[in-house]
Amino acid sequence: MLTEHDLARQADPLRPLPARLVASEALASDHRLFQFRFVDQELNRDWSHRPGQFVMLSVLGTGEAPISISSSPTRGGVIELCVRKAGRVTGALYRLKENAIVGLRGPYGNGFPIDQMKGHDVVIIAGGLGMAPLRSLLWHMLDNREDFGHLALLYGTRAPEDMLFKQEVTGLVERTDIDTYLTVDKVPEGQEWSHDVGVVTKLFPHVKSRIDPDNAYAAVCGPPVMYKFVLRELLDMGFGKDRILMSLERRMKCGIGKCSHCGVGYKYTCIHGPIFTYWDAMNLPEMV
Ligand SMILES: Cc1cc2nc3c(=O)[nH]c(=O)nc-3n(C[C@H](O)[C@H](O)[C@H](O)COP(=O)(O)OP(=O)(O)OC[C@H]3O[C@@H](n4cnc5c(N)ncnc54)[C@H](O)[C@@H]3O)c2cc1C
Ligand code: FES
Repeated sequence: MLTEHDLARQADPLRPLPARLVASEALASDHRLFQFRFVDQELNRDWSHRPGQFVMLSVLGTGEAPISISSSPTRGGVIELCVRKAGRVTGALYRLKENAIVGLRGPYGNGFPIDQMKGHDVVIIAGGLGMAPLRSLLWHMLDNREDFGHLALLYGTRAPEDMLFKQEVTGLVERTDIDTYLTVDKVPEGQEWSHDVGVVTKLFPHVKSRIDPDNAYAAVCGPPVMYKFVLRELLDMGFGKDRILMSLERRMKCGIGKCSHCGVGYKYTCIHGPIFTYWDAMNLPEMV
């Protein structure tokens, strides 16, 4: 049966739906986690997404920006967005107080191919803000732990204070149902850090013998410079090009395949992505 939300969307797919900012917390310098609930309680209860999808966020009078959904669909009722203060829309979001109303439309994009990934080992490789979309996948898998094989999380940031969801990810290190390894490029003098130091590829030796590349997927998101080195490591390990999944960004306007702003070759990032296999990316110009 079609819900009111489905009908409204059919009438105008670009119409943002009002959502209330219920809480926000600083994660790192210029990175905050914002929690929203749709004003329509029924919609709030029924709305769901696939890990890796994004929403178009609008702040009144400023415009829209695509933002990955950072919360897991297994923990519904609230939509969490981890946002870096970058410009007009995100700057205006940072100025909002609790209870302010924003517009959200979506979820958009393909998301991770969860059904294909079931039964396989999965290694998540995140750099910096790349943790935002991967966190949704991470908690989806941990909340459905029996659906997946061996799990590993490799996460790197520049310094300890840049690590997003620090308490959450350091808490995972103790868990036995996932191998979690954290690294920072540098530890400033006087700061405590009991994990690895170096770029994220330095973490690969920890998990190489525990992941079977013939039976595994890798989910990668991070700054452009990270991809080159991470992809080389994954290929050396024996990962198939169709088993390396990357969350990629392009400038977007409509989010629904109508405006062609996000076109790369013959694909639109908003509908064919933002999750692409390495195989896709190799065949599209300037994708990585
Ligand atoms: C699918 C997708 C998911 C995203 N998820 C997140 C997320 O979870 N958290 C988050 O903080 N940001 C995310 N972004 C990036 C975010 O949409 C941009 O930073 C956006 O420009 C912010 O809007 P703004 O109006 O605040 O900044 P603007 O005023 O539009 O721009 C600020 C600066 O960012 C540059 N810029 C604009 N778009 C991009 C882009 N796509 N890539 C690189 N630089 C850009 C501009 O040239 C300008 O220098 C995502 C983008 C995409 C396409
Ligand atoms: S953002 Fe308009 S086609 Fe993708």
